[in-house]
Amino acid sequence: MAANERNARITGLGMYVPPKVMTNQDFEKLVDTSDEWIVQMTGMKERHYIGEGEATSDLASRAADEALERAGVAPEDVQMILVATATPDMLFPSTACLTQTKIGAKNAFAFDICAGCSGFVYGTVIASQFIRAGTVDTALVIGAESLTRFTNMTDRGTCVLFGDAAGAAVFQACEPERGLVDHYIQSDGKLGDLLMCPAGGSKKPASHETVDANEHTIHMIGNKVYVNAVRMMSDSVVKVLDQQGLSGDDLDILFPHQANIRIITSVAERAGLPMDKVYVNIHKYGNTSAASIPLAMYEALEDGSLKEGMLAGTVAFGAGFTWGSTLMRW
Ligand code: UT7
Repeated sequence: MAANERNARITGLGMYVPPKVMTNQDFEKLVDTSDEWIVQMTGMKERHYIGEGEATSDLASRAADEALERAGVAPEDVQMILVATATPDMLFPSTACLTQTKIGAKNAFAFDICAGCSGFVYGTVIASQFIRAGTVDTALVIGAESLTRFTNMTDRGTCVLFGDAAGAAVFQACEPERGLVDHYIQSDGKLGDLLMCPAGGSKKPASHETVDANEHTIHMIGNKVYVNAVRMMSDSVVKVLDQQGLSGDDLDILFPHQANIRIITSVAERAGLPMDKVYVNIHKYGNTSAASIPLAMYEALEDGSLKEGMLAGTVAFGAGFTWGSTLMRW
């Protein structure tokens, strides 16, 4: 296929969640919260926690192994690996390089994407551009997070929200009628302080004081993030449809980042989408950041909600702030 005649599409999906489960009832024993509050305010019932000795690259490589197997692609045929994560194994080397070694993709180049919960959307766009340009035929995009390693278990406003998981997608060159139809991505650092991990980087290196002050954990002004998430996610869906001269009626299924069921329903309402077109699995996994969209796509494919020929959308919002959307002809 000549470069200008080709598109990029997902040919295999994989997911992995660690076996340990934390329920709302478990949190009732840790902080001043209740199952009722968590369900009503977030839609979450349980989430998975990474095991001792495991790291983000372990979750990523398990999801990647499955995605490759389902796509029928050998690891050595992968040319590009993107790991979208806000919770890397370490500052460097990248989690993508560590994952590359674990899956045996010895011919690939690999790097991380730090775009918070929007990482999988960003990764979809980057991988597709490389494929469309003809430089790469096969890419692996993985959203992988170990958020619970960076959670303050005494802060009820954040500790109940997050879970650990990885979702992986193999992107391959395809005919122009299928695959990524359009995208819209954006960022704005002005409000970055509303959702961040303040210490452990060059601005505030690790010290006894930073550890004592819990500054290596997620700090979030939840209600301010919430308002922005609803606005930016709904705008993103409308914008990407508009770019194609389409409306909510034309979309068959939407995979929104799973941060809060109230955010998801508000986004659907503002974008003119009935909830039966919106995939939700937040009750099982909580907010898994960059992993949430590939996890939802994987489950939708498994349960038959995502079918060949459908116009599928993704939309996310996260730390940065970053946000964006994609449209794919499945
Ligand atoms: O992944 C992308 C980025 N993340 C998000 O998009 C998350 C966005 N934010 C949210 O989902 C919501 O802001 C939360 C679910 C975190 C909180 O909901 P909210 O409607 O924004 O509530 P709030 O933060 O304004 O807090 C309302 C009350 C407060 O009590 P007072 O001050 O009214 O007495 C909180 O202290 O709820 C209290 N609260 C809790 N109560 C029981 C906060 N967390 C809890 C909790 N259990 N776990």
